[in-house]
Amino acid sequence: MDLPPIHVPFLGASGFMAIVMLLHMIFFANFVVGGPVLAVVTEYLGLRRRDDRYDLFARHLANMLFVAMILGPVLGVGIVALNTGLFPRFFSTGARAFFWPLAIEIVAFLLEAVFIVAYKYTWEGLRHRRRLHMTLGLLGALGSWLSMALINGLASFLLTPGKWVVTRRAIDAFFNPSFLPSLLHRAVASLSLAAFFMVGYALYMRRREPQPGYSAWALRYAGLWAVVTTSLQFVPGVWYLQKLPAEVWAKFLAGPLTPYWFGGILLAAAAVLIVYFASQDAQAVLARRVLRGMVWLAIPMIFATTWLMGFSRERARKPYLIYGVMYGNQQWVKAPTESKPAVSADARSLFQTHCAACHPAIGGDPFEKSRAYSTDEALAAFLRDPESAGKPSMPPFGGNDEELQALISFLRSGGR
Ligand code: HEC
Repeated sequence: MDLPPIHVPFLGASGFMAIVMLLHMIFFANFVVGGPVLAVVTEYLGLRRRDDRYDLFARHLANMLFVAMILGPVLGVGIVALNTGLFPRFFSTGARAFFWPLAIEIVAFLLEAVFIVAYKYTWEGLRHRRRLHMTLGLLGALGSWLSMALINGLASFLLTPGKWVVTRRAIDAFFNPSFLPSLLHRAVASLSLAAFFMVGYALYMRRREPQPGYSAWALRYAGLWAVVTTSLQFVPGVWYLQKLPAEVWAKFLAGPLTPYWFGGILLAAAAVLIVYFASQDAQAVLARRVLRGMVWLAIPMIFATTWLMGFSRERARKPYLIYGVMYGNQQWVKAPTESKPAVSADARSLFQTHCAACHPAIGGDPFEKSRAYSTDEALAAFLRDPESAGKPSMPPFGGNDEELQALISFLRSGGR
């Protein structure tokens, strides 16, 4: 089934999806995964240490989780709907290979929703049955961790499809080579982001102080979580890199992605240092405007890290949607024998199908740029093999020669 592609103005289909997914990931998904664990551990510590500051902290966190639980799925459903419209061939491939994980995902979401709501609403009712209450929270956490693991199967598959390329078995797609390190990487990131959210919460509580010194205590406590989890990220990070195809991690370590990726690491390191020093003398930090400003800044810094890492990972996959299998314009790397190349030589629809997913939003104005190739032969050679021309983020044109000629005339005429 081949449907004409939908054109997204300004951003292009890929850019548009990237923004929606990142919003979903940074503000909701990670928080709902890391948050319940942080809340239950905090509640437990409060019980052990007989200190009701922990209880208040965990309770406020549960309230925030409740809000995230409502807003997160809105974007989540949006992602599915938009993907179906924008990348039908890619999406149906993914939804088939991941049919069962996605079906179980429904159960996971349900578990997460029901128990996070129960955890929040039984805070008073189960005052004297703390163990039961914490179990509710843990079940909520189990739901959100399960949904993370299932989504992680799909997300890691895109970059390392592994044996699935040959076997086409769902199990090989799911447990692909980077499944485990990427799962651990995500889990730690969720805890780290949730902790940074709570650093913001501690700053916000400065003006409310439910009891003397609460906000300074909360800043120290959330700060400790933020510093420890973020520093730990180094370990799964290195493991994950190792599992990527050699040419991908070359892009990370010394290639076009180095500034983004390394920039992300530097930002995270700076955010950790700020929060570390702030939690050393939280009282003083909360009293001084400039220092508070710096801690506020650490929060967008860690979001920016998440964004830069996600961006690097997506860019590393270019020109593919599924690494080595399907290109960014949804063309198979080697067309499966049953699907014949389209015979249509209608240049505009060729352009829409093969080029518009990226141009002009990501790759620039192709009409303007094709002038750099003075002969049609040179332009044809470039379109057939962009990698040799030093443009590895663009897929080679997969149509037949007649279509290539039509496309070139279209480019030469400036799109008329
Ligand atoms: C997956 C995304 C993607 C698709 C699909 C894609 N391109 Fe590109 N293209 C790029 C990127 C990214 C660049 C810029 C590379 C650079 O400058 O490093 C580029 C560069 C170009 C250039 C300029 C080359 C140069 O030497 O500066 C032309 C011309 C071009 N593309 C035409 C096309 C045509 C025609 C199609 C469809 C057959 C197409 N592209 C499909 C991503 C894509």
